[in-house]
Amino acid sequence: MTVPNHVAIILDGNGRWAKRKGMPRSYGHVKGCENLEKVCSVAKELGVKYLTVYAFSTENWKRSKEEVDSLMKLFRNYMKKCLKIAKENRMRVKIIGDPSAFDLDLQEKIKELEVYSAQFDELHFQIALNYGSRDEITRAVRQMGEDIQKGVLDPKQIQEDTISSYLDTRELPDPDLLIRTSGEERLSNFLMWQLAYTEFYFTDVPWPEFDKAEFEKAIAKYNQRDRRYGGVKEE
Ligand code: FPP
Repeated sequence: MTVPNHVAIILDGNGRWAKRKGMPRSYGHVKGCENLEKVCSVAKELGVKYLTVYAFSTENWKRSKEEVDSLMKLFRNYMKKCLKIAKENRMRVKIIGDPSAFDLDLQEKIKELEVYSAQFDELHFQIALNYGSRDEITRAVRQMGEDIQKGVLDPKQIQEDTISSYLDTRELPDPDLLIRTSGEERLSNFLMWQLAYTEFYFTDVPWPEFDKAEFEKAIAKYNQRDRRYGGVKEE
């Protein structure tokens, strides 16, 4: 069985899962957060080297103030707790997206976690926060424009790799497998550049219930795929 080197996950379905249980959406996010801790250990145990999760999109600010506040509280607590989780899993944590929209104390907690966990490299764990692919590409293009103006980037030298090097995911390999939980089958503005050759796996299982057995099912399905990157299938 080939284990994908980099798995990206769209964590979806916390709200619907909670509603079905007669609980508020925020309860679903708490349980979804607990599950994320478990799935990090599972990923490491299975031999996945890079795990990237979509936790808060640039569009998620449109949710009710109550829900956004509860998510911010969850992120604050998680950043602290994650110092311990990073040590246990020997994992390096990196936030992708634009954290400048968050309160300063949350930005500081994010920095602290990134700096502390930089000593580890057994699992590379990326959390997308205030992330949107179009926003990431827009920021990259803006920076490239500035570098051209400064004379440090020559437009004639721009290759695909140059563009990759301006994205939040620079230094990361592209994902091999994308998983989206809870039945929706769309990208929702997640890693659009990076997912060009990635295999997609959709499951109806809501995120709080996505466990080791479900992760293994996704990897088994991935193994049935024929990844040929535009080449010819080997018989
Ligand atoms: C999307 O759909 C999910 C989110 C906006 C939040 C994901 C957040 C977590 C899993 C919590 C913790 C993450 C970190 C990094 C601490 P939805 O869950 O709102 O579900 P719905 O589509 O059923 O409404």
